[in-house]
Amino acid sequence: MRKKLIAGNWKMNLNVSDTKVMLNELVKKDLNGEVEALICPPFTSLDAAGEILKGTDIKLGAQNVSEYEDGARTGEISTNMLKDLEVSYVIIGHSERRTYYGEDDEVVNAKIKRALSQGLKVILCVGEDEVQRSENKHEEIVEDQLKKGLADISENIENIVVAYEPIWAIGTGNTCSSEDAESMCKFIRKSISTIFNEEYSQSMRILYGGSVKPSNVKELMGNENIDGALVGGASLKADDFQSLVNFG
Ligand code: G3H
Repeated sequence: MRKKLIAGNWKMNLNVSDTKVMLNELVKKDLNGEVEALICPPFTSLDAAGEILKGTDIKLGAQNVSEYEDGARTGEISTNMLKDLEVSYVIIGHSERRTYYGEDDEVVNAKIKRALSQGLKVILCVGEDEVQRSENKHEEIVEDQLKKGLADISENIENIVVAYEPIWAIGTGNTCSSEDAESMCKFIRKSISTIFNEEYSQSMRILYGGSVKPSNVKELMGNENIDGALVGGASLKADDFQSLVNFG
């Protein structure tokens, strides 16, 4: 039985004081303990968020990490720095990193290897853009991202979560239909069984991301192969995040 995961990716939103207000409100709310809840604030808010979430069941995640251990890498954040702040998850390969910051599959693969080797859990994001979808290349694109992103990985595979995020559905309000999201998550599970094995493919959690909100989360979560959601805009308010976690 795969435990559902609702992950909030705050992207470049909420400064430290906003973070404190949001999370102090969230920790007072009743959340379904059967669902794993994760908040990924900007780096600048990790410390404050960690202090508030300490002792709760809400996990802390980061939105990116360096593929390097330490040293002269201006502007980068290492796995050690994240672990020092009690971060347990890191999002890797988000389409915004791939598109705006030139992260290719090789970099994504190196980041995943570094994070897994240091005991961090990884949310690997994959997904096609609008043109690729219209050309019916979505499966081919996603399979290629998975094969390259997960190449030569053999340790801590159980710490990998995959998030299917069709780029055309991110921040647009255009949610992928429940049927299409399920079909792609099922396809991802099949690809994982080829890359690793059937056992891992059955236990690995596969999330959907792209305009998930309180009004559509329940339908999406009702699908056999969708094990949670990676949520941007609708994760910024405590009330909305509570509704997402308590989707049932
Ligand atoms: O990481 C989250 C996704 O990019 C989805 O963002 O919920 O604002 O569409 P969104």
